[in-house]
Amino acid sequence: MARVALVTGGSRGIGAAISKTLQDAGYSVAASYAGNDEAAAAFTAETGIKTYKWNVADYDASKAGIEQVEADMGPVDVVVANAGITRDAPFHKMTPQQWHDVIDTNLTGVFNTVHPVWNGMRERGFGRIVVISSINGQKGQFAQVNYAATKAGDLGIVKSLAQEGAAKGITANAICPGYIATDMVMAVPEKVRDAIIGQIPTGRLGEPEEIARCVAFLVSDDAAFINGSTITANGGQFFV
Ligand code: CAA
Repeated sequence: MARVALVTGGSRGIGAAISKTLQDAGYSVAASYAGNDEAAAAFTAETGIKTYKWNVADYDASKAGIEQVEADMGPVDVVVANAGITRDAPFHKMTPQQWHDVIDTNLTGVFNTVHPVWNGMRERGFGRIVVISSINGQKGQFAQVNYAATKAGDLGIVKSLAQEGAAKGITANAICPGYIATDMVMAVPEKVRDAIIGQIPTGRLGEPEEIARCVAFLVSDDAAFINGSTITANGGQFFV
């Protein structure tokens, strides 16, 4: 039986590449999305990967959505917590709403995604959790106090889950992508984006598939001894 993988935010951007790569690797993939019905329908039409709509910031909605995935496809063995948003603003202009929106989606959203599958993974003695963090959780970023806080928080989550899950066959790891060619990065003003690309020794944005291949490795049996770690994939922009 193919393992079941859930990718949140799995119908667009990095998430879509992860969903497709895991499908190619033989997983049964479910992709959740928050709001873009059109993109989700197009993604399903293109790939055959089933999409599910729920807001990762809402615990009850996440739990119900995951229960539906499990009813349709079987127990979730692999979770890729990828869903994330930006609400960039210099700190002196950042509103409490911008703070809470990002915390609720990017940080609490990881709790809401992993918690409903955790006991099942423990009982079955196998699980793979990958959280998509960011270079900006490692180095901070102008106008991203909210986002950087969540992405640094992701690293604390996986390091703690790694310790709790290890004896039960569960690994938890993070990937810190640098600037990847997605809608999120394309929304950065062109001048700022060009300046950022100038800071990347590789001289280009990353491709979503370059992150997806890291995920495919971390969730494989070959990566059973890698737990609580962070893969940094940023074209040499920042070293930890
Ligand atoms: N470092 C230093 N100064 C910067 C800066 C930076 N990176 N970016 C902007 N500034 C400066 C501007 O030059 C400007 O200075 P002056 O006031 O002296 O002219 C000031 O900060 C910005 O003032 P504005 O009033 O124009 O700011 P704004 O309220 O319009 O906000 C912004 C603009 C939101 C900061 C916009 O520049 C922006 O989006 N910047 C990009 C932030 C960024 O990199 N986000 C990452 C998104 S991609 C992502 O998050 C994916 C991932 O994981 C990597």
